[in-house]
Amino acid sequence: MDFNQIFLNNKKWIAEKLTLDPDYFTNLAKGQSPEYLYIGCSDSRVTAEDLMGVQPGEVFIHRNIANQVIPTDNNVNAVVQYAVEHLKVKHIIICGHYECGGVKAALYPSDMGQLNSWLQTLRDVRRLHKNELESIPEDNQRFDRLVELNVLEQCMNIIKIDHVQKSWYKTGFPKIHGWVFNVRNGKLIDLGLDMEKEFMSIRSIYDLKPLDNQ
Ligand code: CO
Repeated sequence: MDFNQIFLNNKKWIAEKLTLDPDYFTNLAKGQSPEYLYIGCSDSRVTAEDLMGVQPGEVFIHRNIANQVIPTDNNVNAVVQYAVEHLKVKHIIICGHYECGGVKAALYPSDMGQLNSWLQTLRDVRRLHKNELESIPEDNQRFDRLVELNVLEQCMNIIKIDHVQKSWYKTGFPKIHGWVFNVRNGKLIDLGLDMEKEFMSIRSIYDLKPLDNQ
């Protein structure tokens, strides 16, 4: 797409919004109160708002390569804390996608320079689920399964975060959801993960027992 086309598109978009509602941007400027935090991949084919059919103001969004929730990543930690403590989101979604280049790199290891450290957590997911993955004979099915298992492990990483646990104890929210976007047919799939049950199974290791709840 031509660079200048972007600004022409923007003008058109403003006009469309104002035709439907002359106060659209006045109201948008007043603030945000999204109920969802979406953490997805940076992949250009997986456009969060489009695939969910949502409008500006409805979803707080964080994207990185292969939708990782890494405990030492200041960026994702700040996003989760802000979403949970200040925006008080009701749902946190981890959305992976089939044909994810980051996940593929973990299946076929090579030296990728700066990306090596980022991809290490993905390689850890592969190691954690080595037996299941190696029992899948077909390469593409193994690739798809690692995408799903990566979503599961990143949901696990969300429930290990103190702000999330603290909010759970106080309000029962946010609910954690694991999704996969199928770029091959456009379908959004809810993996049906029960993260409260998963938390119970790892509680003896990861429950931080927030101080103000004892
Ligand atoms: Co990806």
